[in-house]
Amino acid sequence: MTHAPAPAFSLPTSDADPFAAEHLAQPEPLHQQLRQAGPVVHLTRYNVYALARYREVHAALVDWQTFQSAAGVGLANFRHEKPWQPPSLLLEADPPHHDAPRRVLREILAPPALRQLRATWQTVAEELVDTVLADRGRQFDAFTDLASAFPLRVFPDAVGLGPEGRDNLLPYGNMALNAFGPANDLVKADADRAAELSAWVNAQCAREALSEDGFGSRIWAAADRGDLTHTQAPLVVRSLLTAGVGTTVHGLAATLYAFATHPDQWQRLCERPELARVAFDEAVRWQSPVQTFFRTATTDVTIAGALIPEGTKILMFLGAANRDPARWLDADRFDLTRDPSGHVGFGMGIHQCVGQHVARLEAEALLTALARRVERIELTEPRRHLNNTLRSWAALPVTVRPA
Ligand code: HEM
Repeated sequence: MTHAPAPAFSLPTSDADPFAAEHLAQPEPLHQQLRQAGPVVHLTRYNVYALARYREVHAALVDWQTFQSAAGVGLANFRHEKPWQPPSLLLEADPPHHDAPRRVLREILAPPALRQLRATWQTVAEELVDTVLADRGRQFDAFTDLASAFPLRVFPDAVGLGPEGRDNLLPYGNMALNAFGPANDLVKADADRAAELSAWVNAQCAREALSEDGFGSRIWAAADRGDLTHTQAPLVVRSLLTAGVGTTVHGLAATLYAFATHPDQWQRLCERPELARVAFDEAVRWQSPVQTFFRTATTDVTIAGALIPEGTKILMFLGAANRDPARWLDADRFDLTRDPSGHVGFGMGIHQCVGQHVARLEAEALLTALARRVERIELTEPRRHLNNTLRSWAALPVTVRPA
């Protein structure tokens, strides 16, 4: 990547709409086309530049000086367009503004700070799996009964939310992640509830709404210490509610889907439950629950001979990078013997997911609880839910064989 003027060069173009239903439902064919077309492809429909190869996606993610987030990580360019809600102080900020909120959340969500949650989450996971097997028997919906139910039970408690209105969390997350795409039918479908859901989420971010010992109150305590301002605190709490629920629900669903379609890998996990964490990361690589994010060029920049003009949007296909055959051997295979580290499913660089340890702890609890009780998972008719950013599920009906 250089900042030198571009030589004469024919830039590959594509008129595909990555946010069209067919590509959201099954993104791999488009990903393959984009990777094969070249290191940079001009998407004419939106006048944005697409990066789909691992090498370029990784390089752009770690170069925040050239590829900024503060102009929005969706299609909307905050230099010209008004954001639909006040921008995130983490996801949609560049240094130096990004530094303090990031430092505060990094500490609150770091592995040592999460240690005290481990035993409780494991107990909740064991009870949940027991209840599902007792109440539903061998057939249930692994999306609703496990992948959604578990995070929705433990995460709002960990943040310190009250008991009312928690059913707003998934629709709010769905809406926020749709909003990174174009104003298509998915965004229009959310419009009716947008004001109501935002009002509810914003109300939960107030100090009085939060219990005394959760992530939320620790964010407010950081403001009391002067590590953040009191105006910033509620927006940092909001980041947890926007980025921490749907991502994990669909990440867990991706993992259960991976195992249901790869019985040999499930057997391996049952024999060696200590592989749960690496299995979750491999599922995040293989399915990429967060499929895409944008950046904005802060200067004219040349990538592999292609000039990207200052101020234009760059669409990074995390999902395509995570299956790039130039980086991953047998990239399309879900494989517990692989080392998935280096995948960009949690991003990379200064914005790399600050909640990834929370997600891994949830996954470890649920997978080990399930592996102790179930020796085989068979999928019947899975149904996708479409979202502009999240690779999502509507249903994962399974039949299981108890261990
Ligand atoms: C950032 C994915 C779970 C909070 C990110 C980014 C990705 C991501 C790709 C980078 C965005 C960028 O570079 O622009 C995921 C996935 C998850 C997950 C796949 C689950 C499987 C969580 C959880 C939390 C969380 C549980 C909260 C506890 C955040 C926040 C950011 C972020 C606040 C912004 C960080 C920054 O900009 O500095 N996540 N995430 N995420 N994530 Fe996650």
